[in-house]
Amino acid sequence: MINTPRIPRALRDRVGEARRVFVITGAGISAESGVPTFRGKQGYWRNHNPLDLASPEGFARDPRLAWEWYLERRARLRRVEPNAGHRALARLERQVEARPGGAMLIATQNVDGLHQRAGSRRVVEVHGSIMRTRCTRTGREFEEGEVTVEGGSVPPISPAGALLRPAVVWFGENVPLEPIGRIQTFLEDPPDLALVIGTSALFGYIIAWALNAKSDGATLVEINPQRTDLGGQAHYALQAPAGQVLPELIPGESPTESPITG
Ligand code: OAD
Repeated sequence: MINTPRIPRALRDRVGEARRVFVITGAGISAESGVPTFRGKQGYWRNHNPLDLASPEGFARDPRLAWEWYLERRARLRRVEPNAGHRALARLERQVEARPGGAMLIATQNVDGLHQRAGSRRVVEVHGSIMRTRCTRTGREFEEGEVTVEGGSVPPISPAGALLRPAVVWFGENVPLEPIGRIQTFLEDPPDLALVIGTSALFGYIIAWALNAKSDGATLVEINPQRTDLGGQAHYALQAPAGQVLPELIPGESPTESPITG
């Protein structure tokens, strides 16, 4: 085990004993894999208007422009790998599940699939997945490879002859009830540890899940090199990159990574 002054002993012990662990992740956990975040200096929203690329109105105006951005992001995801932070969380899930009554859930705002590729099994994709698509007419969803997206016409067309859109949550849209339900069900049995990693935590539901876990007795830990409003309410705010902190917080062997599918 690497000892760093950054991680207090009491926190290491807490992580080493936790039985119910709730994890929220955002774009920051994938930053060290080479996936840009949204806000901040190198973030997507620095150079792009989110309402052009990630809103129903923007898509209706110019679906080709939006799709070009999503195709670029999909292509990037094929070139990147999960990092040490994703791997440490996959390891933590195995460790926690081996404890009596142990369970862990990751609620990720990321659409990149990197947690699953690192070996995490209980992952709720709050904002959907960039690799899935949805027919704008029928609402039917397609897994990657079920319909032609890359290498076909832009914007891609569904089998029903309508536009396909990425199966992600856009600005102005509600998070679907299914992921919310899975998270609420998990939180009904209060977690003893809640980790909030790599998110600017601007959305009310993210803040509410974290603070509810805390008020139900969880030790709340934020991992983010920058200060956030949520960090001020955490028991521990570790201001460092997730790919450095998580392996130190969660030592041990990693499960085997899965290859990207499709
Ligand atoms: P943001 O881009 O808002 O925030 C990323 C956070 O990660 C920032 O707080 C950074 O300080 C932090 N960060 C950067 N590098 C890090 C590292 N190596 N380790 C840990 N943290 C790091 O991304 P999100 O909070 O995920 O939604 O954004 C939430 C949602 O807003 C996204 O899902 C997306 C976006 O607009 C939609 O597109 C609907």
